Amino acid sequence: MPTTRDLRAMAGTEPITMLTAYDAPTAAVIDEAGVDVILVGDSMGNAALGHDSTLPVTLEEVRSRTAAVARATEEALVVADMPFLSFGVSESESVRNAGTMLKEADADAVKLECGSHTVELTERLVDLGIPVMAHLGLTPQRVKRTGYARQGTTRDDAREILDLARAHEEAGAFALVLEHVPANLAAQVTAALDVPTIGIGAGPDCDGQVLVITDVLGLSDRVPPFATRFGDVRSEMRRAVEAYRDAVAGGEFPAAEHGHVEEELDELY
Ligand code: KIV
Repeated sequence: MPTTRDLRAMAGTEPITMLTAYDAPTAAVIDEAGVDVILVGDSMGNAALGHDSTLPVTLEEVRSRTAAVARATEEALVVADMPFLSFGVSESESVRNAGTMLKEADADAVKLECGSHTVELTERLVDLGIPVMAHLGLTPQRVKRTGYARQGTTRDDAREILDLARAHEEAGAFALVLEHVPANLAAQVTAALDVPTIGIGAGPDCDGQVLVITDVLGLSDRVPPFATRFGDVRSEMRRAVEAYRDAVAGGEFPAAEHGHVEEELDELY
């Protein structure tokens, strides 16, 4: 089982693969396929829970789904995403909430959507033994302020991301997610850091890539411009569900082999 230290060592040597998962069967498939990191992302808000943003996702939802993912995962590193306002309100509450993911859900690390307010918190969590994956660029928990627009597109904004990346590395983060930023900014951040960068909509020069599993499977009805559907699971699910409906409606399911008869129960009255 890789540790956060193993992942750090992969920077610049071999591409790191990361996917989200929100349940045990999906995590098992991802793990068997040899993906390095499974992120129990707060993207579950949109991808699994029917919300139109990540803001309503609760600590308990991430905790219970992280526990399910961890139970089904043997090899990959499991990272729990800290949902909106589960960190940053007060230090003690942030530490307790992050600790819960390791203590009760068996996560290997937590991810924080970062800004200047998370530098000290990262240091504190790392000191306590809670590995931190930082996340900069588009941070969907700030959707009310930024929308889903590409970030770091001006020189000032790009420099701020680079400075924050360095500050979080110094504070002890073991990896950095860069979301929806220009590829040339991501390349410079990657070159400036020793810890691995994992990009989503950040070009080819990051040390690894992450996507949301429902986009990869072709289960989402819409995918962001930087993602690709690698399958068409939605059509296959629809086909299976329609086949079931038709079999029940047509009297073909259940067949004799799907049930059993106790002869002595015949003619009860
Ligand atoms: O919540 C999530 O799935 C994420 C990834 C898109 C990086 O933060």
